[in-house]
Amino acid sequence: MRHLPMHPQGWAGRAFGVLMERLNRPAYAAAAHLLAPREDEHFLEIGFGTGGLVARLLSANPTVRVAGVDPTSTMVRVASTRREVASASHRADLREGRDAPLPWPDAHFHGAAALHSFQFWPDPAASVAEIARVLVPGGRLVLILRDHGKRPPAWLPNDVSRSGDEVRAARNLLAASGFRVRLEAPVGSSAVLFAIAGEPPPLDGDRSTVPPGAIQEHSR
Ligand SMILES: C[S@@+](CC[C@H](N)C(=O)[O-])C[C@H]1O[C@@H](n2cnc3c(N)ncnc32)[C@H](O)[C@@H]1O
Repeated sequence: MRHLPMHPQGWAGRAFGVLMERLNRPAYAAAAHLLAPREDEHFLEIGFGTGGLVARLLSANPTVRVAGVDPTSTMVRVASTRREVASASHRADLREGRDAPLPWPDAHFHGAAALHSFQFWPDPAASVAEIARVLVPGGRLVLILRDHGKRPPAWLPNDVSRSGDEVRAARNLLAASGFRVRLEAPVGSSAVLFAIAGEPPPLDGDRSTVPPGAIQEHSR
């Protein structure tokens, strides 16, 4: 039962989803406001649950597309069959999957969000790097972090969330992947991080990354 938020499966997961959606409405509103969807933009949500944010983004603009991953088959079904998503299914791509690796090419999305799902990512540095990869330079990211107080549950798979200083550590992770990060006003007791993706790192073999001596070596 304690793992229901991480894996809302079956009838208990559906019931939990109804409650979760009711409680998380302010978070969906805050995330949609920060992502500010514009004409023809493409968004990603990691751990979309019942699809509350997906529905909002799809409804915000009739040209916006939304993709997402969630590992719980019950949530994929619930989110995909909700009215706002089913009626815009040609613009929605909701898949059963996890935070990493993400099954989309580089620079594919204009924005991404993860609401109360970061805590379940087993390798958060790798996942944040994946998000940076799939965002265009300048792409927006909203991360809403559940408040664990001073004693985070020991069973959480994410060591950053277990650290007792999740917000600071998550900010550092984002900065290490080239994001510029801002702490927004909280939603209830949840911290809200808004981040802008930087330029991707140069490719291996790019001359600008090779020391001058090595270039001479190759041209000999
Ligand atoms: C507490 S719910 C939040 C759902 C939704 N974001 C919301 O705010 O209503 C957490 C969600 O994260 C999903 N989840 C769990 N582990 C995940 C992982 N490794 N990658 C992506 N999503 C995950 C769960 O299936 C669940 O739907």
